[in-house]
Amino acid sequence: MADGNVNLSTIKRSGSDDQFASSAAKKHQINKAPPHVEDPAAALANIRHEFGEHGGVNMSIEASATFTVMEPDTLRRMFAGELGPDRDFFIYSRHFNPTVLNLGRLMAALEGTEAAYCTASGMSAISSVLLQLCSAGDHVVAARTLYGGTHALLTHFLPRACNITASFVDIRDHEMVKREIVEGRTKVLYFESMSNPTLTVANVPELCRIAHEKGVKVVVDNTFAPMVVSPARLGADVVIHSISKYISGGADIIAGAVCGPASLLNSMMDLHQGALMLLGPTMNPKVAFELSERLPHLGLRMKEHCHRALTFATRMKELGLKVVYPGLEDHPDHEVLKSIANKDYGHGGIICVDMETEERANRLMNLLQNCTQFGLMAVSLGYYETLMSCSGSSTSSEMNDEEKELAGISPGLVRMSIGYNGTLEQKWGQFENALSKMQEHKL
Ligand SMILES: Cc1ncc(COP(=O)(O)O)c(C=O)c1O
Repeated sequence: MADGNVNLSTIKRSGSDDQFASSAAKKHQINKAPPHVEDPAAALANIRHEFGEHGGVNMSIEASATFTVMEPDTLRRMFAGELGPDRDFFIYSRHFNPTVLNLGRLMAALEGTEAAYCTASGMSAISSVLLQLCSAGDHVVAARTLYGGTHALLTHFLPRACNITASFVDIRDHEMVKREIVEGRTKVLYFESMSNPTLTVANVPELCRIAHEKGVKVVVDNTFAPMVVSPARLGADVVIHSISKYISGGADIIAGAVCGPASLLNSMMDLHQGALMLLGPTMNPKVAFELSERLPHLGLRMKEHCHRALTFATRMKELGLKVVYPGLEDHPDHEVLKSIANKDYGHGGIICVDMETEERANRLMNLLQNCTQFGLMAVSLGYYETLMSCSGSSTSSEMNDEEKELAGISPGLVRMSIGYNGTLEQKWGQFENALSKMQEHKL
């Protein structure tokens, strides 16, 4: 709302004298999150369970685009920012919708932030945050190793469309990060907690310290490591998700989220200046409901993705393959990840295998899909089936050869999002089988 008063973390009306307050909502307020829950699954389980309108164990879907009021003056008061979703007053679903806000509460609990707002895609979450935090002439310091779409947004779109420019850095080189920050002009330090596709792990606490010392906000894309890493608990100001990946888990939904301070989320909904309000990347409430049913088992899924990824990466290395996996001791960021990871979730569910040339990468993927059924050639990640893609010619194809080389993306790099279907040994057998076929035929 215009005055930025809305507390997104508590979305139901509280005043008992409020003639509009829903009694069902009051009856079902249980377990408000204690402030210092560190484990993301515990934080999720601790927030108020939202029941359905008739006492259903699942929340109801509020499918309406618009909301009615009992008195004409209420509309004016809502537009003036006097009444808002914190007291169960809704105007229009591009602004706030109760079902989407409920998913936002889950996302905020997952990431340990005050508030969260769910969007129609990961890219719309990223672009909205950058457009909110930066104005024309401002500057972003960003990691070299980023999802290709984000890299293109920062390299091409934002400089052309609004003169927001970026410098790209090696996020492991903290002196370089410091050097590239232009005090007064740099507004955001942007990186991925675990980068796509190189699996570089960012030292989140140290990078936050550097940025905050210079008055720069830290925005972290945590798409590759939900549950595994909690950037906001380590000092980041804003956490972004492409929910389309692990959080959805079904490879059937495109969605995103911005998790951060309530003041930022409120400013993003401002009627005159809010990037979310005015660009309008709204999530459909039916999608929000679907996703809210999947968050409770995200922790279980992540543990199995991570367990299988570690087992396969270890065995692939024993077979002499060039494997990149932060769970392996020889990964340059293994110790950093150990120091920042949440306990018992593992080291991420993605493995990269460097086959050196695109031809060899393609032969391996072809055998793995079409001969042994180990996985599917497809972009994206976080699905129950293993998904494989050659990053240089797919999800990082927006980068030119020099940018790919600087980011460490070799032409034969195969990114594998390890699934959890079938048994672990069955799947490993399929991998070994494909590899021996390659060796047999000297491919
Ligand atoms: C790390 C990362 N961030 C953001 C995105 C964009 O998300 P979406 O496809 O949901 O817009 C992707 C998509 O691949 C990604 O891998």
